[in-house]
Amino acid sequence: MKQIIMLLSALLLTCCSQESDAQAEIARQTDVGSTLIVYYSYTGNCREIASSLSSLIEADVAEVLTVAENQDYNANGYKLGNDLLNAINSNPENLGSYPAIKAIDKDVSNYDNIIFITPLWHAQMAAPAQTYLFQNREKLAGKRLALIVSSWSSGISTVVSNARRLVPNATWAGEALWINHNNHSSRASLIENWLQTQNFQNSTDMTQKMYVTIDGQTETVSLTDNGATQSLVAKLQESPLALTLNSSGGFEIWGALGFSLPRSDEQMNAQPGDVVLYNGSNICLFYGTNSWSYTRLGKIESLSGSKLNAFLKAGQTGIDVTLSLTKPTGIAKTGTSGRSTKAYTLHGTLAQTEQKGIVIQNGKKIIK
Ligand SMILES: Cc1cc2nc3c(=O)[nH]c(=O)nc-3n(C[C@H](O)[C@H](O)[C@H](O)COP(=O)(O)O)c2cc1C
Repeated sequence: MKQIIMLLSALLLTCCSQESDAQAEIARQTDVGSTLIVYYSYTGNCREIASSLSSLIEADVAEVLTVAENQDYNANGYKLGNDLLNAINSNPENLGSYPAIKAIDKDVSNYDNIIFITPLWHAQMAAPAQTYLFQNREKLAGKRLALIVSSWSSGISTVVSNARRLVPNATWAGEALWINHNNHSSRASLIENWLQTQNFQNSTDMTQKMYVTIDGQTETVSLTDNGATQSLVAKLQESPLALTLNSSGGFEIWGALGFSLPRSDEQMNAQPGDVVLYNGSNICLFYGTNSWSYTRLGKIESLSGSKLNAFLKAGQTGIDVTLSLTKPTGIAKTGTSGRSTKAYTLHGTLAQTEQKGIVIQNGKKIIK
């Protein structure tokens, strides 16, 4: 009898562990994008940043370590750090120019998003951090990359350029976060706010989408999750929105939404493709750049350069723009000349000729 009970217990234990393994596998597969945090740190600040970040998101963490141990990068006015950077700059396409780093057991190929944290040295990206990006540049192609830079006080624009040179084919999730000695102690809240601005890839793609239709061409906007977009989505659930926007300043098309949305304005350097809320009740779609205080709404990621300019009708005025939550069907691109006589229902489907009520024609709501 005792043996039978032991056998049954063993069977039960095996079943349970198999079930929990299966559940863990499902959880792993449905996790919102896999993220790897990679950092290099000499005096510990980037390590603290990595630790604060990993307490906010589900991510694996990897540290870049140099093969040469106990180096004094501070000695003689930071001379060694400077020498390492000079070696890289004199021949940046040669791996031999970079200080050797230890192998890392986390393979970047297995992740959708990489958040890279580096110190600034002599206004540039710290040399060992550069080694990691250079070594992994092919694996990083097509991945979402986000950057956090820690400095004492220097601005980080050269570090951002270094990163773009080192991994030319990565997709940047958004603007880099700069943490310096004045705000290092507030890093948790800085990181939390910054994370909201980054467009990370997630494997189950739970990002709310909005569609922008101009002249029969529809492009997707990945929406940022904030009060403004939540209210905008609620409006668009009632019906698509027909707007008339105008080019302005050589960098945007913009105009009134006809209602206000909750503002969480912040100073930003808006980039091509960015969609933002200006002054609470205007929408701006960028084909150029501008530094101003806006509330981020989202980003058009599918177009850049001249294709984005053409889609947004850069430089024109009186541009008919429709915002919707469903992709309009049956809308053929009408070309740049000529106005479409086709009308669409508020759900974005092609309206029958005899359709009565409110329809959208050439981006404007009309009553038939
Ligand atoms: C070799 C070297 C050069 C540095 N150069 C600069 C600099 O030009 N400007 C600056 O603001 N901070 C500079 N720093 C300071 C670091 O950027 C800053 O302390 C950073 O937080 C260090 O990160 P860590 O503690 O993770 O190594 C330098 C530090 C080192 C070691």
